[in-house]
Amino acid sequence: MCGIVGYIGDGNASDIIIEGLKKLEYRGYDSSGIAIYKNGKIEVHKYKGRIANLEAAVANEHFNSGVGIGHTRWATHGAPSDVNAHPHSNTDHSIAIVHNGIIENYVELREWLIREHGIVFVSETDTEVIAHLIGLYYDGDLVDAVYKAVDKMRGAYGIGVICSKEPDKLIAVRKDSPLVVGLGEGCNFIASDIPALLKHVRSIYLIENNETVVLTKNDVKIYNADRKEVKRDVFHVTWDEDAAEKDGYDHFMLKEIYEQPKGLYETLNRRLDENGMIKLDGISLTKEDLEKFNKVYIVACGTAYHAGLVGKYIIEKLAKIPVEIDVASEFRYRDPFVDDRTLFIAISQSGETLDTLAALREAKNKGARILSVCNVVGSSVARESDDVFYTWAGPEIAVASTKAFTTQLMCMYLIALYMGSTKGILDMDVYHRYIDELKQIPDKLKKVLEQAGNVMEIAKDFYKREQVFFIGRGLDSAISFEGSLKLKEISYINSFAIAAGELKHGTIALIEQGTMVIALATQDRLFEKMLSNIQEVKARGATVIGLAKEGNVDIEQQANKVIYIPDCMDEVTPLLSVVPLQLLSYNIAKLRGCDIDKPKNLAKSVTVE
Ligand code: F6R
Repeated sequence: MCGIVGYIGDGNASDIIIEGLKKLEYRGYDSSGIAIYKNGKIEVHKYKGRIANLEAAVANEHFNSGVGIGHTRWATHGAPSDVNAHPHSNTDHSIAIVHNGIIENYVELREWLIREHGIVFVSETDTEVIAHLIGLYYDGDLVDAVYKAVDKMRGAYGIGVICSKEPDKLIAVRKDSPLVVGLGEGCNFIASDIPALLKHVRSIYLIENNETVVLTKNDVKIYNADRKEVKRDVFHVTWDEDAAEKDGYDHFMLKEIYEQPKGLYETLNRRLDENGMIKLDGISLTKEDLEKFNKVYIVACGTAYHAGLVGKYIIEKLAKIPVEIDVASEFRYRDPFVDDRTLFIAISQSGETLDTLAALREAKNKGARILSVCNVVGSSVARESDDVFYTWAGPEIAVASTKAFTTQLMCMYLIALYMGSTKGILDMDVYHRYIDELKQIPDKLKKVLEQAGNVMEIAKDFYKREQVFFIGRGLDSAISFEGSLKLKEISYINSFAIAAGELKHGTIALIEQGTMVIALATQDRLFEKMLSNIQEVKARGATVIGLAKEGNVDIEQQANKVIYIPDCMDEVTPLLSVVPLQLLSYNIAKLRGCDIDKPKNLAKSVTVE
């Protein structure tokens, strides 16, 4: 969570930093601030609320400075407020820092700084201890002071530091929070993520854990924990700035929903040869490897976990290997049975989700082979995995995940098909039938998107409800969970998903006159059972929106409204059925006047436990 940006050069640091922060607002947006070196001093400006507040407040400041750092916050320690906003300073305000992450031993450090050094704290944040530690150790050498401070800290941090006594330097450190360095001409940058820098640079250093970076306007040096200089290859960004712009859509979420046919086409076709065979390119999973595995473990969080639910179903079906699945925050703390015969699949859009990363490390320590499904090239999850199956969704900016989800699903199908066919247990006719179905998905999805008007009409009927249930069976159950998460996170409606057959074991007690139920009935072999479940909730007064394949018109007898998806094989319906649910959530949230791209209390990249 939180985004940091830093600049050193001859440009206008405050404008460059604020512009960069806007590109990182997805990481947190409850307050923001900048620290700018000016006339021998560091000026700090920070405000509760969106970056627009900061921008308006400093509009007439004319800093004329080329050195500064900035921050957009997602509160962990201390409520969003001006004083808790970053940057934070040491006692004489000669040092300012911005921080993304959590200092786990901050209470201990804070007490020590108060007791032994008489430091007076002004904020409730964990971050302020970093500023005071650096201030305490500063003796004319900022780099040395930063190293000494970092030595005392436990936790996760990406930090940026400037000092009024050494205005020719910007220092950054990374441990378990993302950090990149942008390499310009006569200027250099730091940021939590690449989009913040794309307007200015395409050449990037990806900073590794426990590295310290010293930037001047003409030079960047990277040092390891032993203070030895390390060399880094330059990473050249190939996507352009437009990919991170709204392009005429009202919201990033809507744009990203409409980008799904393209993302799915790319994710599929970059992995297929002219004969429809899956090519793994950089991934080295051989037949021998696959035969060695006796179990697959899928671990992820939130929406990515829902992609994993579909992955479990499809890998078990096509590759005939047991698949366990867990949310990352649970996996870590229950001593799961993982060994060198386990294929561990981590799914993560950002590749920076701390829970997923920690679970991955746990599995790695136990000997598992790590395959990750990731959207962000060079992210921590990608770098710490043995192999990476990249999604080709392009940058996902909206907090609510859409195109990352469907491209993750596509990867799950490809991994399952690859495993089944390589092990020789999947009939090749069946294999090619799947590939044909997958190839048709981008066009079928365009047809789903053409129904956006119909979905909007349905949203108009229901947007004032305060409680919604999602039900489904089999693969529809996984998509019910995702539909429900999407609705609650952006519209704040209390929504709940449950396997339809499980309703009668308790939850049906909540169904009453007017309760809204969204019933997914896309599975031909479970269609009649779903019709019975719809009848059960209707009998108790529910208003039902059904979701079914074209042609299955019997559902119109039961449901109040129906959304259809194009006919396709039962097993691939998740790629289509989730999209009307994304559109429904989007439209309901819009009608309720919610801030769709930046829902309250959330952030795109969850780098805290
Ligand atoms: C929901 C959403 C989150 C993420 C989750 C994992 O729309 O975006 O539930 O899916 O925080 O994030 P990644 O995939 O970046 O690990």
